[in-house]
Amino acid sequence: MITIRKIRPDDWQAVKALRLEALADAPYAFAETLAEAKATPDSVWQNRVQQNAEGKSSIGVLASENNRLVGMAVGLCNPDGNQKAHLVAMWVSPDHRGTGAAESLVQYIVNWARESGSTALVAGVTEHNPRAQAFYRRLGFEVLPNRPPWKPEPTSNEIPLQMIIEKQEREQGAAPEPLTRPGEP
Ligand SMILES: CC(C)(COP(=O)(O)OP(=O)(O)OC[C@H]1O[C@@H](n2cnc3c(N)ncnc32)[C@H](O)[C@@H]1OP(=O)(O)O)[C@@H](O)C(=O)NCCC(=O)NCCS
Repeated sequence: MITIRKIRPDDWQAVKALRLEALADAPYAFAETLAEAKATPDSVWQNRVQQNAEGKSSIGVLASENNRLVGMAVGLCNPDGNQKAHLVAMWVSPDHRGTGAAESLVQYIVNWARESGSTALVAGVTEHNPRAQAFYRRLGFEVLPNRPPWKPEPTSNEIPLQMIIEKQEREQGAAPEPLTRPGEP
């Protein structure tokens, strides 16, 4: 069973290891490089995880199975001051792709963004990442028209994506949306 949960402050070493694993596995997907992440002082990792655990300006979400972390995502609350939350650091280990773990991570961030008053969730993907593009499209993200250069590799472009967040009227006492789902074979 894959479990989805919010990051806790004491996760910082595990989150650092997971992020280094993600950067080594999929360097094409992220603006940060593995070398930059390795050179980041532990105090910065601790602060970042602390903020992601507080869930105010940002939130970190982890996927785990059998006590092993297998995926993560981070939401940033309206970094541009325009009621749009951002989805960053999205990664699922290769052996857990296609299981629904990634979708559950995004769903957690969408719920958090909605509760924080955001009207949209924004993500950025490179033009050389067709799997992530297909994944975001399936979830309802739409491609925005501008194509800024991809910072780590300015000869290619970033594809900005946006999902409109609908307000959800929940009946008082109604059960929250499920945030865990069984892993598929
Ligand atoms: C992006 C990521 C989180 C998506 O999670 P996932 O579990 O792989 O996603 P899913 O399997 O649910 O969906 C992937 C989609 O891509 C499609 N796909 C798979 N391989 C593909 C390829 N080579 N080219 C195009 N589409 C592809 C799948 O068919 C599926 O689309 P569908 O549901 O319409 O059939 C995961 O692949 C990942 O961690 N990748 C590396 C890091 C990364 O790219 N992060 C995103 C940064 S923006």
